[in-house]
Amino acid sequence: MTSTLIEGIGLLVTNDPEIGPLTAELNNAAVVVEDGLISWVGESSAAPDADSRIDAEGRCVIPGFVDSHSHLVFAGDRSDEFEAHMTGQKYAAGGIRRTVGLTRAASDADLAANTAHLVAEMRAQGTTTVEIKSGYGLSTIDESRSLAIAGQFTDETTYLGAHVVPEEFSDDPAGYVELVTGEMLDACAPRARWIDVFCDDGAFDIDQARTILEAGQARGLGARMHAGQLGPSEGVKLAVELGAASVDHCTFLGDDDVDALASGSTVATVLPGVEFSTRQPYPDARRLIDAGATLAIASDCNPGSCFTSSMPFCIALAVREMHLSPAEAVWAATAGGAKALWRDDVGVVAVGKKADLVILDAPSYVHLAYRPGVPLIHRVI
Ligand code: NIG
Ligand code: FE
Repeated sequence: MTSTLIEGIGLLVTNDPEIGPLTAELNNAAVVVEDGLISWVGESSAAPDADSRIDAEGRCVIPGFVDSHSHLVFAGDRSDEFEAHMTGQKYAAGGIRRTVGLTRAASDADLAANTAHLVAEMRAQGTTTVEIKSGYGLSTIDESRSLAIAGQFTDETTYLGAHVVPEEFSDDPAGYVELVTGEMLDACAPRARWIDVFCDDGAFDIDQARTILEAGQARGLGARMHAGQLGPSEGVKLAVELGAASVDHCTFLGDDDVDALASGSTVATVLPGVEFSTRQPYPDARRLIDAGATLAIASDCNPGSCFTSSMPFCIALAVREMHLSPAEAVWAATAGGAKALWRDDVGVVAVGKKADLVILDAPSYVHLAYRPGVPLIHRVI
């Protein structure tokens, strides 16, 4: 066993409810790490000895970001669509099919290399846990190889065969739902922890979404959902009813959606990079928090609606555009993401948890929003 003492932490975000509410901060703190797990947390002056030391020199330390929503297994570029969104063209689900064509044509090696590149980008920006979805294959072979590739990088793999109906099933959407819940599910379930469905205009309706998520749950997969991105969606309430871990986007919410999220156990995951990149209105995350819902922030990194891998950027947007306090945003990007993945071993700095830590090149996490676009990750542990 080797131990490392991280000392001289000016400000430590623990997110530990035993210490306090929300970010549960400690000043002049230290953390001891033993074989990848946290074995001690407290005041620097009282820290035990260890085999090696890292001096944080007064910097702020936070739990590594938990990015609970990404689509990293794809090929190709859609910067032309982004350009069009910036000059007024509305984002629509149909663009997904473009990436499907390019992804199907790509080799496993090329898809894995692109995924590795994006995962490395994320890590350099402080992300230590990432969920990765399939969803650009939309055939049994291409969904299952997408999940195999995602599984090289994370245990948080999500089967999203129900992203959109692919071209060849345009005239037979019911046949596609049958495939997604039949042969494709058989091939994908062993490679996935989660099942997801895009329940919105141009994708899947509420009945299809229920059929798909229930089929996945019957195979032992946890449910998550894309809903309310393009307009109001019954999907938010369905996600809560089915006990989904998370419902993501939540851009358009009615009173009944907010009530359902506030009273259920489903996390509301907001993806502010999407609104930035599509010029849609931002979700009313303030209202969700004030109503008592649990909020997560994720990147949604994907080639169509939001091609950022940066959680610090998403935090800055959540603070500036969605009126979260910096503490609320940092909590949502760490502990909130962990809750959205039913994980209690990450997103918190406490004894026995994974030692996923980020030393910021700043005295406080407020700088993540105060200094947008500046690389503030000093070191990822
Ligand atoms: O989360 N909304 C559905 N899926 C992605 C967008 C995918 C794409 O446009 O390629 C999202 O925004
Ligand atoms: Fe998404």
